[in-house]
Amino acid sequence: MTTSDSLPTAAERQGLRAPRGTRDVMSPEVERWQEVEAAARHAFERYGFREMRTPIFEDSKVFEKGTGETSEIVQKEMYRFVDLGGHDLTLRPEGTPPVVRAYVEHKLGQSLDVVRFYYIGPMFRYERPQKGRYRQFHQIGVEAFGSESAGVDAEIIDMAMTWLADLGLDSLELKLNSVGDKDDRPVYMEKLVEAQSELLDEMSEDARRRHQINPLRVFDSKDPRDRAVIEKLPKIIEHLSPANRSHFEEVCGYLDDWGVEYEVDPRLVRGLDYYRRTVFEITSSGLGAQDAVLGGGRYDGLVAHMGGDDVPGVGFAAGLERIVLALPQGDRPANLDCYVVTVSRDLMPEALRVLRRLRACGVRCTGDFQGRSMKAQMKAANRCGAPAVVILGPDELAKGVCTLKMMESGEQHEVSLEILATVVADELRQDGGEG
Ligand code: HAM
Repeated sequence: MTTSDSLPTAAERQGLRAPRGTRDVMSPEVERWQEVEAAARHAFERYGFREMRTPIFEDSKVFEKGTGETSEIVQKEMYRFVDLGGHDLTLRPEGTPPVVRAYVEHKLGQSLDVVRFYYIGPMFRYERPQKGRYRQFHQIGVEAFGSESAGVDAEIIDMAMTWLADLGLDSLELKLNSVGDKDDRPVYMEKLVEAQSELLDEMSEDARRRHQINPLRVFDSKDPRDRAVIEKLPKIIEHLSPANRSHFEEVCGYLDDWGVEYEVDPRLVRGLDYYRRTVFEITSSGLGAQDAVLGGGRYDGLVAHMGGDDVPGVGFAAGLERIVLALPQGDRPANLDCYVVTVSRDLMPEALRVLRRLRACGVRCTGDFQGRSMKAQMKAANRCGAPAVVILGPDELAKGVCTLKMMESGEQHEVSLEILATVVADELRQDGGEG
């Protein structure tokens, strides 16, 4: 601990930083987050999704069983710890297993046939940080339980594309694939293992490890050597059972009907163990290496695997940081409508009274609480971009008035304190601001 007698050393000061791979999100970036979140709520609620908030940490088994023992996440990336009571816990690396756990725990399928949830919140993965990849990041995701219909897959893909396009993200690309299920996987896996066994010499060490643990995970390797190997491997989409092929064709058919553009990518398997049939990913160019903005798919069998009934499910999650990085840069609206300036410090009580009345009329405002000079206060008003400034001086106050200055036009006039709040609100409305 540091006391005032022993000032912190340089090393101690350096220690007081956000942990590697985490970020402080503040204005003006935080307003963009709020915009994305509000658009998500608006978009998803139109499709009948309701918010669910699950704990930030769960019993580690939730992810071992849910995300899957052979996934990179469980193998290498979990923030796992034993708490003071000896419980084995993990900071959630993704949102799907906690929502499935809650679905089973609260028997949520009993009241409605199709149950739909969305969530917004932090996730944790011990990954190597880089632009667009963090150790604490935030996902906006949805999960829909209870229907095997290809219509639901298509509907949530369409919902995701519309939400992102409406936010102004351009060059969005949708990739789609089917990874089959218990009907076609065993035969395909045999072929895949055989093909990989012949190519082991050409694979990276990491891919050979993946081949041992789960041959499908080889497809997720980004190593250039493995990319060449992957090109030679059999494609699961060419080994689908007739039922799974027609399910996939149905998903594509809906998207064609609605004019949603996509590319079928036979190498897309996604790095989580629970996917069955449809998988998809949306990328945005301009993000660099971490260009996947959103990923998802169908996970029929997961609810049963986690102790529930045999209920199908499908969903997706988007990375909030990546969406914000891909948003078009535009003028950000000011955070404040009005700044109250006082000519002298002793007018603070009057300033606070004025601020209360302005806020009661819906005006977003603040003032100077440091007794700075008029000049410094006007500078502060300018910096915060408030379109209106109210100036309180002793002579005006004696007459029951103050000065209202509109910053863009530079016009100023005296206004009675009695009606100030409504006048400011009106001026802001005319100015195109929020009042
Ligand atoms: P995921 O592909 O692992 O899928 O993650 C979804 C999205 O989260 C990614 O497309 C990316 O935008 C973002 N993301 C992932 N890791 C990071 C990171 N380290 N830093 C920043 N952003 C990241 C899932 O998590 C599944 N639960 C999605 C799902 C829901 N499937 C079905 N339902």
